[in-house]
Amino acid sequence: MSEKTDVTLTINGKDYAIAVEPRRTLADAIREDCGQTGTHIGCEHGVCGACTVIVDDAPVRSCLMFAVQAEGKAIRTVEGLADGDKLHPMQQAFMDNHGLQCGFCTPGFLMLAVGVLEREPNISDEALIDVLSSNLCRCTGYQNIIKSVRAAAQEMRK
Ligand code: FES
Ligand code: FES
Repeated sequence: MSEKTDVTLTINGKDYAIAVEPRRTLADAIREDCGQTGTHIGCEHGVCGACTVIVDDAPVRSCLMFAVQAEGKAIRTVEGLADGDKLHPMQQAFMDNHGLQCGFCTPGFLMLAVGVLEREPNISDEALIDVLSSNLCRCTGYQNIIKSVRAAAQEMRK
């Protein structure tokens, strides 16, 4: 077994001091070493987007990043979206518009959409659909996901 490296990950504003092999993915470290299991793992090779988190304000596929690369960066996961009991507008919109079916892909969609809208609040509809098509929902519930993100975009612009 290769040697472990000490690394501190900052997830939703909290520091997690962990020891990981250099090859450990950020996705595995978030889930297994830091116990934040809201981030889901699907394909493990960058295709499905289920593992999307926000790293330094950009949506990132955490299965494609090593944990050691994330040291010193601000990582946001689905657990950090709500403000206490108050859901983030994106979470509320997914609830209101039936944007989640099985829900396995949902954290990845939420983080992708939040990350994109924070950077580009007035993103065109065409570009938004293009971005969302990069994540896979195996229930093929895209219509309601798109509807949810459009509704949240309006809310986030307020
Ligand atoms: S698990 Fe990371 S993209 Fe599929
Ligand atoms: S809700 Fe996305 S895979 Fe089912």
